[in-house]
Amino acid sequence: MRIWAIANQKGGVGKTTTTLALGRGLALQGQRVLLIDLDPHASLTRAFDIPLDPPPAGVVELFGTPPADLTTLAHHSEIEHLDYVCGQTALATLERRSANQPGLGLALQQALTRHAGQHDYVLLDCPPTLGLLMINALAAADRVIIPTQAEPLALHGLTSMVRTVDMVERSRRRPLPQSILPTLFDRRTRAGHDTLRQMQDTYGERVWTEAVPVDTRICNIRSLTVPVVSNAQPSRGQAAYERALAWLLASSAVAMEEAA
Ligand SMILES: Nc1ncnc2c1ncn2[C@@H]1O[C@H](COP(=O)(O)OP(=O)(O)O)[C@@H](O)[C@H]1O
Ligand SMILES: [Mg+2]
Repeated sequence: MRIWAIANQKGGVGKTTTTLALGRGLALQGQRVLLIDLDPHASLTRAFDIPLDPPPAGVVELFGTPPADLTTLAHHSEIEHLDYVCGQTALATLERRSANQPGLGLALQQALTRHAGQHDYVLLDCPPTLGLLMINALAAADRVIIPTQAEPLALHGLTSMVRTVDMVERSRRRPLPQSILPTLFDRRTRAGHDTLRQMQDTYGERVWTEAVPVDTRICNIRSLTVPVVSNAQPSRGQAAYERALAWLLASSAVAMEEAA
């Protein structure tokens, strides 16, 4: 079971869109995929057709005593092989409520260990804050994908995210490879091109050599949670995510060969 965290401490950079697009791509290849919504805003959950009042059971229950199992929390989506676990608004206060409960940083990793073998890929849609949920994701993941908006101000967020991942990698003493996906690229602007170049100069092979373009069709994330209509052309954004997925899969194959 491969566990990918989709993370960036900045909001609005395309984390949720990336989680859905990559998860969908993997499921269409026949992989059994589980998406986990770790964000109290629950944008990923909202992309699926599930009633939210009362809030469905989800990630909060992984932190209960005893913790729930992922199998009981997972919902099937309309796309074959694509399952998801809901995020809930109550996640926003989880940290405060569990302040005197030690060991919660590994709750997700433990749930995933109990879940081993039931999905091929688990994608963790992280919140934009460095708190208990992001730490859980980085502790459990075997790779981190950092979507980064291709505009100059986003580079600061990228620097701090890379620093956070490096720190977690050192403390857990297990490699945590990073892949940087430039998103929301507007090819008409000079700033967009300059930012891509700067990302590549600074982070080299960790950065995808292309970028996901701004695409009004992918803006509607509901479009990523329904099956492909036959003959429909993928939007430019979706096509870019297909190429990004191919790059991620190829680079993880190289990493595995190097580790062998
Ligand atoms: N490639 C894209 N083209 C156009 N809009 C996008 C694209 N990627 C994301 N968006 C939009 O930008 C906003 C933020 O994206 P989202 O994936 O929710 O980011 P995050 O999870 O990092 O907060 C959303 O409204 C989303 O629909
Ligand atoms: Mg999000």
